[in-house]
Amino acid sequence: MEPMSDYFTSRRIVVTGGAGFLGQYIVRGLERRGCRQIHVPLIQEYDLVKLDDVIRMYETMRPDAVIHLAAVVGGIGANRAHPGEFFYKNLLMGVQLIEQARLHQVEKFVAIGTVCAYPKFTPVPFQEEHLWDGYPEETNAPYGLAKKMLLVQSQAYRQEYGFNSIFLLPVNLYGPGDNFDPASSHVIPALIKKCVDAVRTGVDHIDCWGTGAVSREFIYVADAAEAILLATERYDGSEPVNIGAGREMRIKDLAEMIAQLAGFRGEIRWDASKPDGQPRRCLDVSKAKAYFGFEAQTPFGDGLRKTIDWYRATLEPRQA
Ligand SMILES: NC(=O)c1ccc[n+]([C@@H]2O[C@H](COP(=O)([O-])OP(=O)(O)OC[C@H]3O[C@@H](n4cnc5c(N)ncnc54)[C@H](OP(=O)(O)O)[C@@H]3O)[C@@H](O)[C@H]2O)c1
Repeated sequence: MEPMSDYFTSRRIVVTGGAGFLGQYIVRGLERRGCRQIHVPLIQEYDLVKLDDVIRMYETMRPDAVIHLAAVVGGIGANRAHPGEFFYKNLLMGVQLIEQARLHQVEKFVAIGTVCAYPKFTPVPFQEEHLWDGYPEETNAPYGLAKKMLLVQSQAYRQEYGFNSIFLLPVNLYGPGDNFDPASSHVIPALIKKCVDAVRTGVDHIDCWGTGAVSREFIYVADAAEAILLATERYDGSEPVNIGAGREMRIKDLAEMIAQLAGFRGEIRWDASKPDGQPRRCLDVSKAKAYFGFEAQTPFGDGLRKTIDWYRATLEPRQA
């Protein structure tokens, strides 16, 4: 259990997207640190794409710091289906929230970017210095670039106004509470659902997108939340900082590992007509350690087991 933190006990914190997957872990982490004034603007009351709602949120909640997680997100399928919506909403939410934070004298703004902002062919492990060396992988470029503009805004505002906005780049998240909807899920929940459902229904094969030859890195959601809270408390720099576990894995190996943990013994078929996304992804995580003392703690197998157990306990029975 984390010690009480002077930073959080004495401040009003707004967590946009605080009811989402990552957001729930951030809120729990704030509570464990003794933060008594946590505000989550739900979309039903504050649609953060709308400027009037953003202004009303700042006037009502009067935060000292904002952790901005609200976003429209999804896997390759969702990114391909909604590039316009992902670009417009993510850009507008972030740009308005940062500008209004400055105008409302907010002390600190924590903008959450994404590994999707990196160029398609970044040398592995991805270092923050390479962020501007090329265009992102096409399927997630509108989403990744919309988020990357918040880095530009953060740096420009620090330079012109002395506004304290930081920018973090988490790699793919996974864990209990993830989105398992096949229309929008990321690769880990998609594979877990396929394997667990196949075991339950007795199906002898599963179909997966792409070749399986590309690689990804994953961070357990509770570890990512810890990183964001450490950065909120300790990091006040203008350089972007990667948040990851520093472990690269081929999608084929991931599928086999999930199949084994889920008890699925059938065939894994790959559909090469579907896109693979970025060829390789793995972050250099040394800056997070140097700047705010973060290192991911959860072993990958443990995190996957917890996620599979959560899916079985929470979602599977209702779908039977
Ligand atoms: N998941 C990943 O692998 C990953 C990786 C890197 C970075 N990130 C970043 O981490 C953050 C959290 O992601 P997540 O996976 O936790 O996503 P999530 O579960 O979809 O959470 C996003 C939250 O934002 C809210 N939201 C969306 N549009 C909104 C609007 N117009 N006004 C107010 N709230 C709005 C959503 O509310 P509703 O659900 O009610 O619409 C939801 O609660 C995002 O910024 C994402 O870009 C995620």
